[in-house]
Amino acid sequence: MSNQNDPLFQPCNLGKLTLPNRVLMSPLTRSRSSQPGDIPNDMNVRYYQQRASAGLILSEATQVSPQGKGYAFTPGIHSPDQVAGWKKVTGAVHIAGGRIHMQLWHVGRISHPELQPNGDKPVAPSAIKPEGAKTFISADSGMVDIPEPRALETAEMADIVEQYRQGALNAKQAGFDGVEVHAANGYLLDQFIKSGSNQRTDEYGGSVENRLRLPLMVIEAVIAVWGKDRVGVRVSPTGSFNAMDDNNPIETFGTFARHLNDLGIGYLEVVEDSFQGNHANGRPEDVIDAIRAGFKGTYIANGAYTADEARQRIREGRCDLVTFGRPFIANPDLPERFRQNAPLNEWDDSTFYGGDEHGYTDYPTLKELEKSA
Ligand code: PHB
Repeated sequence: MSNQNDPLFQPCNLGKLTLPNRVLMSPLTRSRSSQPGDIPNDMNVRYYQQRASAGLILSEATQVSPQGKGYAFTPGIHSPDQVAGWKKVTGAVHIAGGRIHMQLWHVGRISHPELQPNGDKPVAPSAIKPEGAKTFISADSGMVDIPEPRALETAEMADIVEQYRQGALNAKQAGFDGVEVHAANGYLLDQFIKSGSNQRTDEYGGSVENRLRLPLMVIEAVIAVWGKDRVGVRVSPTGSFNAMDDNNPIETFGTFARHLNDLGIGYLEVVEDSFQGNHANGRPEDVIDAIRAGFKGTYIANGAYTADEARQRIREGRCDLVTFGRPFIANPDLPERFRQNAPLNEWDDSTFYGGDEHGYTDYPTLKELEKSA
């Protein structure tokens, strides 16, 4: 196929940005920030700069506050040193011709007292332990169980919104092109949205509208900082990762999609599988239909797509853009490889989380492979 007709290489307007291709980099936790302080460093700068040919980079999930942290070594966006570290990342990506959004993160119950200020219990909509979910609290802790969280008081909701607002403001200071609100994968906002983790009896639980209340308040606060065009939202309607379950994803996420449409956000990114490529029984087309019926803006698909599957979905009008995760870990020049239909480097999952440059910034580009051949 000539590149001229390749759906992956048709430019796309995303709010005020023009993306040169539709091969986007997923938000990917890599757990390599500098300690103490969860600060982005020069190794992180190299990693993101190497991947600047993505249509858009979504940063790894980044905690908006100390309370929002759930794993050792993940970066934050709540201290001046973190803002300075991220500024180097965004500067390097821009110099390389790229664009980058920050993914704003609060983990809610997916944390551990060892990672929380004052050794506090992690917070959640309800005091429900995520059965089977794990985290790691230090380089040599291994994976540890997550204890029962503490249910947030109604009066604490304003502070949660404020954490995101401040994070959004800090991301702006750090030179990002926009932000993505992480409402997926079993973290705080997803815990509010889904019925299985939210058994509140106040105005933040119960009905779908009530469960969506806090996420929508957060998104409105972030829009007030950035403008609607530069705000995206990520959801995982059928995701089971982190012990998640919703009793009616079509209704829940169809309703959320309508609200997000009314807010006019720049894009909606949907994890279209259970987690990490588990869509053996097909994608949740009925849920996707409900979301597409409610949300008329830019739709980004995610979920272990191959290049050809992505091309087909774009051609069929099922999505506008696609985010790629693990292929982007192993192939810094992923768009060029897709353009040429070139073979891909394989990823090494033993180096996904934590560690040094190995398995992080040492995956070769096609050009580097040719030189060393
Ligand atoms: C993880 O660290 O395993 C992780 C983080 C954020 C996600 C999903 C997984 O959205």
